[in-house]
Amino acid sequence: MSESSNLLTVSSSTGTYDVLVQSRVFPEVLAELRESGTKILILADEFFRTAVDKHGLPAIFIEATETSKSLHATPALIEQMRSLGANRQTHLFAIGGGVIQDLASFIASVYMRGLEWSYLPTTVLGMVDSCIGGKSSINVGPYKNLLGTFHPPQRILADPALAGSLPRDQFAGGLIEAAKITFCHSEEAFARHLASDPDSEEALEMIVLNSLTAKKHFIEVDEFDKKERLLLNFGHTFGHALEGASHYAIPHGIAVGLGILCSLAFQRQRGVSFDGAARVTQLESYLIAMVQALDDLRHHLHTLSLDDVLERMASDKKHTAAHYTLILVADTGDVILDRVERTLETDRQLRQAVHAMISQIESSRP
Ligand SMILES: NC(=O)c1ccc[n+]([C@@H]2O[C@H](COP(=O)([O-])OP(=O)(O)OC[C@H]3O[C@@H](n4cnc5c(N)ncnc54)[C@H](O)[C@@H]3O)[C@@H](O)[C@H]2O)c1
Ligand SMILES: [Zn+2]
Repeated sequence: MSESSNLLTVSSSTGTYDVLVQSRVFPEVLAELRESGTKILILADEFFRTAVDKHGLPAIFIEATETSKSLHATPALIEQMRSLGANRQTHLFAIGGGVIQDLASFIASVYMRGLEWSYLPTTVLGMVDSCIGGKSSINVGPYKNLLGTFHPPQRILADPALAGSLPRDQFAGGLIEAAKITFCHSEEAFARHLASDPDSEEALEMIVLNSLTAKKHFIEVDEFDKKERLLLNFGHTFGHALEGASHYAIPHGIAVGLGILCSLAFQRQRGVSFDGAARVTQLESYLIAMVQALDDLRHHLHTLSLDDVLERMASDKKHTAAHYTLILVADTGDVILDRVERTLETDRQLRQAVHAMISQIESSRP
């Protein structure tokens, strides 16, 4: 692969891997796979069946649902791979969003003690966030992402043009994760994110590269989630609670956006002022606009049980008995990991924060 500005190289403990970000590369990639001489097996989102089938490559199609990436569903898939002749020489080629990625990387890490694999993300979330970092996560029974491995692909090819067919809330959710990553990284990266128009294919390339460059920093300094990389959980403790309490009617990316708004409101409850940090106000306005991509957002927020949200929030496994572990924003605009003492007053402030976020959305223009 030749050097170009659309190319990013990520270092990991298992070696380096390249990410190429280029619009309309998808058909070309599929055509090249056939000529490559490598023993390929494609694992693709069912959504891409027609596009993949045209190229006559061995492929397994999977519905992108949480059930598909469960431990329960993997034996059938593994048997199917075996019956198609997959062996140590097989190179898995995954095509889809985070569900397909998680499943493919998990299987690639354990099938015959490990296969090489490549990934072509098809959702904005996959392109701007999950495609690098090497994590795989598998659901077990009711427990989401309980099992996992670190097994980065050999190569990632992102084609932002594919995002054009995504539902609006899915598209917006991916952009929210990119806003989160770039905001955590630096004022400059976040400013570049805000300045790009996601409706243009070229600008979306730039959004993807900018977000991946920011994420690359975190995963290279802290590959295994011990310190710096934890900051990328910004918005996720509140977000997971909102997602769960809405019974997943609020999708992940939108919930993260709402979760970030909650964490800012929580800081204000504790007397933090963001008056000196313009980027915080910019983030807030951006998120308020982006979460409106979810139809019936106000209705979903209205029907939430606050008790349920707070219970879920309090039971996050990152907290200790005496402290909540939260990713917050300091008055400078910097994202920080904070341990906040668990008191009645803290619980009151958490509840108030969710309230404040809901009022903020209710008073905004849809
Ligand atoms: N491994 C990681 O680092 C990591 C990080 C974040 C999230 N995840 C996981 O990713 C999953 C969510 O992934 P996701 O949000 O990327 O989406 P997804 O894979 O769940 O797909 C969402 C929907 O979009 C459809 N779709 C995919 N690409 C499309 C396209 N180009 N056009 C139209 N429809 C398309 C899918 O068929 C599906 O219906 C979750 O299970 C989450 O746990 C993993
Ligand atoms: Zn997320």
